[in-house]
Amino acid sequence: MTVNGEERTLAAERTTTLLDALRAAGFVSVKYGCGTGDCGACTVLLDGAPVHSCQVRAHEAEGREVITVEGLSVAPGASWQDWSALHPLQQAFIETGAIQCGYCTPAQLLTAKALLDRNPNPDEVEIREAMSGVLCRCTGYVKIVQAVQRAAALLRGAHPALIPPRQATLAPDAPQEMLQETLPWLKEPGGWAAPTVISPPDLPTTEVVGQPEAKVDGAKLAAGRAVFTDDIALDGMLYGALLTSPHAHARIARIDASRARALPGVHAVLTYQDVPRIKFSSGGQSYPQPPPFDQVALDSKVRHVGDRVAVVAAETPEIARRALALIDVEYEVLPSVLNPEEAMRAGA
Ligand code: FES
Ligand code: FES
Repeated sequence: MTVNGEERTLAAERTTTLLDALRAAGFVSVKYGCGTGDCGACTVLLDGAPVHSCQVRAHEAEGREVITVEGLSVAPGASWQDWSALHPLQQAFIETGAIQCGYCTPAQLLTAKALLDRNPNPDEVEIREAMSGVLCRCTGYVKIVQAVQRAAALLRGAHPALIPPRQATLAPDAPQEMLQETLPWLKEPGGWAAPTVISPPDLPTTEVVGQPEAKVDGAKLAAGRAVFTDDIALDGMLYGALLTSPHAHARIARIDASRARALPGVHAVLTYQDVPRIKFSSGGQSYPQPPPFDQVALDSKVRHVGDRVAVVAAETPEIARRALALIDVEYEVLPSVLNPEEAMRAGA
């Protein structure tokens, strides 16, 4: 296949996904999010069209053209650290603040490129529709839409001004009615969607604090060069995999991990029988934690579809996945508990 304009031969079994083959070949800007075709983090362009590479077998790309974000950026001979060498889409994503953690950014950029290649002047509805296959946990999408609009203008040869952040001053004790007078755009369709900085009138304005600023790692993220945890490979590293619950509420009546433990290449299989019941909070705030300490690492009861049942550590992700299939679990399915009142009842 051709990857970013170069002939490449990727070693892959019949069942290997294009996502895994590309990442194994070093194209780690292609991200694993869900593996089920839902999140879009793994998007690449296949013959110019965005596809979820976790849903495409590598051999299906044989003889075809694949573009990852590594192939989007950088004029020949230039470095990605030089903004001006980046694709206008990458520049626009940095300039408008459309990148936060950046995990979805390569997929957003490639999806936007496919859109602008076929429609150089999309409206907001068309942008949102085209980008709907890539989820972003961080940005709220407003900035992503602005970035695509800006890139479209740049590619048409225009020089659009940056959209200034919406700011207003309002006394903390101002009556509620003043909110709409001070922020007239609240009445516009979608007006609430625009992030707005509201400061008290006596707050002095400064040149730096409160002013828009490009992220220090924006270029690295836009170029797909940032290293996330999943991109790190160490010698002798083990890979983890979780067995999760198919039931919303169930007791684990019996669990047998002996066949998984016997699989060559498996180093550990843990179930609730192997770990101490140390309670923790899933809230993630700093000390002291306001949310309740109501979680344990692995429990004999599962409380939602996808709740943790067992953990495997193995020499390769494939062995870890095979081990999961060898864990035998018998569930006693319980009635679903769907609201906090029911959940607080004794015995729930
Ligand atoms: S990893 Fe492919 S769609 Fe989520
Ligand atoms: S998921 Fe973090 S920027 Fe989109």
